[in-house]
Amino acid sequence: ANNQTNFRPQLHFTPRDQWMNDPNGMVFYEGEYHLFYQYHPESTVWGPMHWGHAVSQDLVHWEHLPIALAPDEHGAIFSGSVVVDKHDTSGFFAGKSGLVAIFTHHDTKPGTDLTRQRQSLAYSTDRGRTWTKYANNPVLIEEALPDFRDPKVFWFNPQQSWVMVIAAGDTIRFYKSPNLKEWTHSGEFGVGQGSHDGVWECPDLFELPVDGDILNRRWVLIVSIGEDANFLEGSRTQCFIGSFNGDTFVSEESPAPLLWLDHGRDNYAGVTWSDVPEQQGRRLFIGWMNNWKYANVIPTSNWRGAMTLPRELTLTAEMEGVRLLQKPIPELQAQRRGEQNWAAFELSNSELTVTHGDLLEIIAEFEFDDELEFGLKLRASETEETILGYSTHEQLLFIDRSRSGAIDFHADFACKHSALLKAETGNMKLHIFVDRSSIEAFANDGKLVMTDQIFPLSSSTGIKLYAKDGSVKVKSLTIHTLNSIFD
Ligand code: FRU
Repeated sequence: ANNQTNFRPQLHFTPRDQWMNDPNGMVFYEGEYHLFYQYHPESTVWGPMHWGHAVSQDLVHWEHLPIALAPDEHGAIFSGSVVVDKHDTSGFFAGKSGLVAIFTHHDTKPGTDLTRQRQSLAYSTDRGRTWTKYANNPVLIEEALPDFRDPKVFWFNPQQSWVMVIAAGDTIRFYKSPNLKEWTHSGEFGVGQGSHDGVWECPDLFELPVDGDILNRRWVLIVSIGEDANFLEGSRTQCFIGSFNGDTFVSEESPAPLLWLDHGRDNYAGVTWSDVPEQQGRRLFIGWMNNWKYANVIPTSNWRGAMTLPRELTLTAEMEGVRLLQKPIPELQAQRRGEQNWAAFELSNSELTVTHGDLLEIIAEFEFDDELEFGLKLRASETEETILGYSTHEQLLFIDRSRSGAIDFHADFACKHSALLKAETGNMKLHIFVDRSSIEAFANDGKLVMTDQIFPLSSSTGIKLYAKDGSVKVKSLTIHTLNSIFD
């Protein structure tokens, strides 16, 4: 039992108790970042969904607030978004501004056992503290679509209208509205594009400059893919890069290349914050650090589910096309407590314990010309270790959590998975966050990310560097001990 409480992340958002899945309704309003989430207040497994709620001023320290939305006569409250209705287009705010939540109501069709999913509204006039459901819910019904959920809404200035991006089966649909209450279908995306290994869920759509050039912009469409037992990976998130004309999205490359947002197993249903002040120009993302394959059985005690660290998304032009970069938000640097630095050294066919800890930020730069495997062993002890390694000849970055600690709660949890990371110049950079029950690795300035849960013994705290079958130069190594967000 002691071990279980020790799995509580010290840097990541978790519910105080009970079950949590997707992040919902993230919005910045009057100095606060809101985070709502799929929540089951009566159990540590999934059930009738509510929206839990927390607020933060720095995206790192969170204040828990009462449940925002509870099931009603239209059903459970599935995922969705929140917008700031600045000019009271909805008429909910007597000419002032306020918050409107757009979410999926999930229930069964009367007299049948068929599920249905319809879109509804709720609004708040008191900075998200209390919510009123709209009297004429639901506002968007598509009788023919049984899987129709997770609306993400934003204001599209060129057409002075609201846009809704929503998952329908294994495609995305687009709708428009002047007032958030009446919606017109405007487009579709997805047939023959990307991965269809599961039902599509939790889309997001936003525009970003390429390499900071505001005259050269692209739209990013994020799509999560639900769990299908046939696929080892479980639930995952992909993204598309292209254009949006107010009606529909078109991929720049056709067919769209498969772009995974995260190559780890535990980053799902993530979307971005709405209404972040324009002068900041930041696109902030958070995901559910879990996987439907085993989410209901992970070995935590009175709570289940954590969020990833918040990340900033940007675009960069690569040889093969425009690609998404993901970096931990700089606000996390305020948690740094102690810093250890190493001067450059060579590591040949050996391993070296550099420090111990279960709440660390590690920044390492490597240079190699040999064919070898090198990397780090995290949360290591005599019996346990999680390997974050790179194989230079295969150009594969991998995580091996087959000896990471508790693994037997699900047959597919113990695994080694990898992703192609080209390093032609023989240089590689890793930025890693280690917490009580996770590791997040940002490689080459956020070009490739891997997020994985692990459940090690609290005594497995070793951090090692290793080189196998060759020699690597550790050009620089910095390790920060971090303060817990609960301190
Ligand atoms: C994604 C998801 C959403 C749905 C919610 C239900 O994880 O399946 O599509 O709205 O979870 O909790």
